[in-house]
Amino acid sequence: MPVYIYQVLHIIGILMVFTGYGALLARSLAGNTEDTKVRKLGSITSGIGLILILVAGFAMISKLGYSFSAPWILVKLVIWLALGGLIALINRKPALADKLWWVLLALGAVAAIMVYIVKLYV
Ligand code: HEM
Repeated sequence: MPVYIYQVLHIIGILMVFTGYGALLARSLAGNTEDTKVRKLGSITSGIGLILILVAGFAMISKLGYSFSAPWILVKLVIWLALGGLIALINRKPALADKLWWVLLALGAVAAIMVYIVKLYV
């Protein structure tokens, strides 16, 4: 498959994770943790998104000939793990929702910095 397919899938995965987590966090911020519809939709959307990010990310590494041990890729893997772990905190600690909101955005920002800036140098 051409690499642009994986690039699009990578971005769709990112959109899904941030939409899903945004919904879950908004649910906590609204003090509405009884709402199972939002919880289900947010969990499923972010879960599929995480898989898409990972699969498309690894496909791009081989298609574009990057090294799996390049620092910017290792950082992105750590970010991916952190994003995956974040759902446990989001669901179990609704009181932290306002802080996790910014943590989520910071993780996304670092991933973008890795790919658009750090990749050029290391
Ligand atoms: C398993 C973890 C990940 C791997 C292995 C991975 C790998 C990659 C690779 C190889 C590229 C292509 C770079 C290029 O075109 O030269 C890329 C692009 C990108 N990644 Fe990731 N990534 C991962 C996680 C993430 C996460 C968690 C985010 C954001 C939350 C993210 C955001 C981006 C963005 C914005 C691009 C640029 C889109 C593009 O040019 O295709 N990545 N990633």
